[in-house]
Amino acid sequence: MSAPKKLFIKTYGCQMNVYDSERMAETMGGAGYVETQNVNDADMILLNTCHIREKAAEKVYSELGRFRDLKDARPDLKIGVAGCVAQAEGEEIMRRQPLVDLVVGPQSYHRLPEMEAKLATGQKALDTDFPEEDKFEKLKARPKAKRGPTAFLTVQEGCDKFCAFCVVPYTRGSEVSRPADRILDEARDLVERGVREITLLGQNVNAYHGAGEGGDWSLARLIWALSDVDGLERIRFTTSHPNDMSDDLIEAHGSCAKLMPYLHLPVQSGSDRILKRMNRKHTAESYLKVIERIRAARPDILLSGDFIVGFPEETDADFEDTLRLIEAVGYGTAYSFKYSTRPGTPAANRPQIDVDVADDRLRRLQALLTRQQQQIQQSMVGREVSVLFEKPGRQPGQMVGKSEYLHAVHVVAPDVRPGDIARVRITESSTNSLAGALIAD
Ligand code: SAH
Ligand code: SF4
Ligand code: F3S
Repeated sequence: MSAPKKLFIKTYGCQMNVYDSERMAETMGGAGYVETQNVNDADMILLNTCHIREKAAEKVYSELGRFRDLKDARPDLKIGVAGCVAQAEGEEIMRRQPLVDLVVGPQSYHRLPEMEAKLATGQKALDTDFPEEDKFEKLKARPKAKRGPTAFLTVQEGCDKFCAFCVVPYTRGSEVSRPADRILDEARDLVERGVREITLLGQNVNAYHGAGEGGDWSLARLIWALSDVDGLERIRFTTSHPNDMSDDLIEAHGSCAKLMPYLHLPVQSGSDRILKRMNRKHTAESYLKVIERIRAARPDILLSGDFIVGFPEETDADFEDTLRLIEAVGYGTAYSFKYSTRPGTPAANRPQIDVDVADDRLRRLQALLTRQQQQIQQSMVGREVSVLFEKPGRQPGQMVGKSEYLHAVHVVAPDVRPGDIARVRITESSTNSLAGALIAD
């Protein structure tokens, strides 16, 4: 038998791309490929790309340019572009960068082995369809290999919300939810392979409405069913939309012990005028009301958000509204971005904000968010948390894991193994993590 071919995958963008990259590697496993971490070894390079902001999309081309010498040295090397840039730009990618042999959109990954066979005959391959068949059903079953203690599991894809700035509805298509029984099977399989925490993924994960026993299931119903899986200790989900925080999901945050007290709930802006122009279909007040209800159900929940500054026509007053909303909420962590014009989206043609103004707003916003993050981390000192350990730390005997609030926690604990869950007293807060000590039983 010939030696297996080697596949190098580089992943950009959101967690859904991380999950997709795993599934692509597994699928290509069936076509005789093993994964390599060394690009110089690869017979095939796949870039799994992100189109959300201009910088992310442009990075792909500079990365591709760097493969020229490799390809000159080994003309058999195949180079592919997957993910959201593939979907958005399709054939244009091959025109702009003739090194590229293969372009595959996020809904067509199950067709990769056929596409690879086409490459072997010296042709190029392009597939950016939104096929009828369900790619998850067609993707090769996941191999039984042992895994680390945490895993992502995509339950919902696509978006029907059409925020005026966002490419996702175009790159990922309309909202589709996977059937509940398939998700439960995949979760049980992950648990058998060592996983103790699963993060359910979707571009709008709380809009989940997959077919299940007795009709469509909500995300909350799915979470309750997952919480019955023995050996699965922790459940998380991301990313949610404020308008889809249903009563049963809020209630689950209060009563489902395995559902972790962390919620990423992007709001984008605190100005109703801008929210309206963004087509977000919620107001600052309705967002704050949702937060209030979530906190009533689970007072210690740690909140995270996404913010865009410099959206077209954003005034100083609009920006101040955003700062006020942040003050009102108190975020444990957050992601903030300068608005980036995306071709084909409704906001692209509107009057743009001066770049220096946007830069200044981003600086101020991030300073406030960092302050809040530090305060919340500091408030953890002295508290007892539960830590799921993932890997050894840098110091001898040190292990690193995540608390229920998703804070990274460093503990000197030579007897602890990845996958162990232990009670820890937090002793210290540093820039991006906490330190603590095991609490004796
Ligand atoms: N589905 C998720 C977010 C997907 S994109 C949600 O609705 O929350 C992740 C984040 O990228 C968004 O929340 C937004 O803050 C940011 N983003 C999306 N498009 C952007 C753009 N054109 N410019 C800057 N940031 C953007
Ligand atoms: Fe993009 Fe809005 Fe959909 Fe989120 S809800 S993916 S920001 S269109
Ligand atoms: Fe990027 Fe696509 Fe995710 S655009 S953020 S990789 S859905």
